Amino acid sequence: MKGIILAGGLGTRLFPLTKITNKHLLPIYDKPMIYYPIRTLVDAGITDIMVVTGGDHAGNFLRLLGNGQEFGLKAINYAYQEKEGGIAEALSLAEYFADGDKMVVILGDNLIEGSIKKEVREFAEQEKGARIMLKEVEDPQRFGVPELEGDRIVRIEEKPQDPKSPYAVTGIYMYDEQVFDLIKTLEPSERGELEITDVNNMYIEKGQLRYSVLDGWWTDAGTFKSLMRAGKLVAEREGVQY
Ligand code: G1P
Repeated sequence: MKGIILAGGLGTRLFPLTKITNKHLLPIYDKPMIYYPIRTLVDAGITDIMVVTGGDHAGNFLRLLGNGQEFGLKAINYAYQEKEGGIAEALSLAEYFADGDKMVVILGDNLIEGSIKKEVREFAEQEKGARIMLKEVEDPQRFGVPELEGDRIVRIEEKPQDPKSPYAVTGIYMYDEQVFDLIKTLEPSERGELEITDVNNMYIEKGQLRYSVLDGWWTDAGTFKSLMRAGKLVAEREGVQY
């Protein structure tokens, strides 16, 4: 199983914090944001990891992470995204690295309280297709939102005004090797990006999308409020009094 962390983008929702650095290098309590998704993968037993990044500050990832010794890794692979083409476009850069294996993809600004070990094990046993992680949230309009019929997802809508369920599709996705051929068929969305939600909807149409609901807290950290919440959640998990 390969692990791919997507850490590109301009982080415009965090301007001016992201004017002189990459969003995923900003602090979450006592560590740079990117440490958390790396730790999530390593804790789930995934040690073959690629970081996809871009923009003006990509070199800082190499300086910060090096070969991943701090995480017990022997090496980290890197890919550079030339333009801001969206999550699915960033993922397409990992095709060579994935090399036909299954993969866990995690957005660099997604943090969780616990572990995805169980879900990764379930996906390893899943014959083919994809698996996504859902989490109930108070503001589903900010995310991809599944429409459920019984225990089946029939469709995912990206940032709907009228969410069909209280769940967010978290930025932790598990795919088989078909994902790269699906991405090649995508058209840019209205915001000019190749959307990961379109990829997930294609897996639904094939009848090959499964899901799990995450235990423990989950948050993104791509807005001022969620960045602050992420810091607080991590500090509380560490038992910090402040
Ligand atoms: C992205 C995805 C969205 C998902 C979210 C999770 O949104 O497009 O479906 O729910 O990540 O963090 P973005 O934060 O890029 O707007």
